[in-house]
Amino acid sequence: MITEVLSVDAAQPDPAAIRRAAAVLRRGGLVAFPTETVYGLGANSLDAAAVLAIFAVKGRPATNPVIVHVADPGDVSRVAATWPDKAAALANRFWPGPLTIVVSKRAEVPDVVTAGGPTVAIRCPAHPVARALIRASGVPLAAPSANRSTELSPTRAEHVLSGLDGRIDLLLDAGACSGGLESTVVDAAGERIRLLRHGLIGIPQLERIVGPVEVASEMPGIARSPGQMEKHYSPRTELRLVEGAALVDDLLEAAHAGKRVGSVMFHGEGFWPERAASQHISLPAEPGQAAALLYDALHRLDGAGLDLILVEVPPEGPEWAAIRDRLTRAAAR
Ligand code: TXA
Ligand code: MG
Repeated sequence: MITEVLSVDAAQPDPAAIRRAAAVLRRGGLVAFPTETVYGLGANSLDAAAVLAIFAVKGRPATNPVIVHVADPGDVSRVAATWPDKAAALANRFWPGPLTIVVSKRAEVPDVVTAGGPTVAIRCPAHPVARALIRASGVPLAAPSANRSTELSPTRAEHVLSGLDGRIDLLLDAGACSGGLESTVVDAAGERIRLLRHGLIGIPQLERIVGPVEVASEMPGIARSPGQMEKHYSPRTELRLVEGAALVDDLLEAAHAGKRVGSVMFHGEGFWPERAASQHISLPAEPGQAAALLYDALHRLDGAGLDLILVEVPPEGPEWAAIRDRLTRAAAR
């Protein structure tokens, strides 16, 4: 298979390109497209065979359900059986945007989408290309991140191609994703809102709308989101998290042992990525800006032929929780 790449304007995508991509989706094909978080790998969510192809292409375990994307909040009724008040309140505040809401599913949603479970995860993305594509295809789109399972998520078209070139029908290239980290996932099917995955929207922001939020991974004996495998979001190169104070020593030690080492710190003054040729990357000290550049930095270092990537442990605080979460998983062996 040859993967067709169509470049589109991020704010005002060419309608002809969108129509072409939508036609691929309607006949059961796979299209990678940009969202405000990361690039997604889309298929018609109501076509079980098309969704199955996503799992095959990604090497994704069948036990890990995928998110269904709608163009407008009003379209949730196509896949959701119920829409609890708290789900509606969160959608009202954060959609379109980087929040995924899990509720009970309609029978029309194929089992492959939900890994056989009774719930479906729904997101209304903010990216104009994503919304135009979902609208033109006329169906809600199942879309995990457009990378091979366990690997780094893509924030640029080049990242998608490095993992999936020749395995998917079409890629809409609209440049870099502005958010850079995956959506926050919450379970709204029960009494209380439960956080299943940290993401661009932090717990304090959620709690302002719905009151106390439980964090699934911190509750003993309660299953986490099925996709929250320990190793995930990982570069191929070994990645180690180290305290900032130890970073320089560890760098010297590894270099002394003959290793080619790269590093990521969170002290940038904003002049990266002009210095992208360097294998020592300084990301901004502001969490939103760091999130936007993190995966790109890791993709670059992963492609630089290194033996080891050292990453500074990010600062404490809820606004760094998603970055800490992804880096901890990236470092898991
Ligand atoms: O930002 C994002 O969410 C991106 C873009 C493309 O929208 N998508 C994404 O999808 O990150 P993926 O498949 O890489 O991650 C989906 C997460 C997984 O952790 C999965 O377990 C969880 O959502 N999930 C999906 N359906 C679920 C369900 N019914 N119940 C609980 N968790 C669910
Ligand atoms: Mg993913």
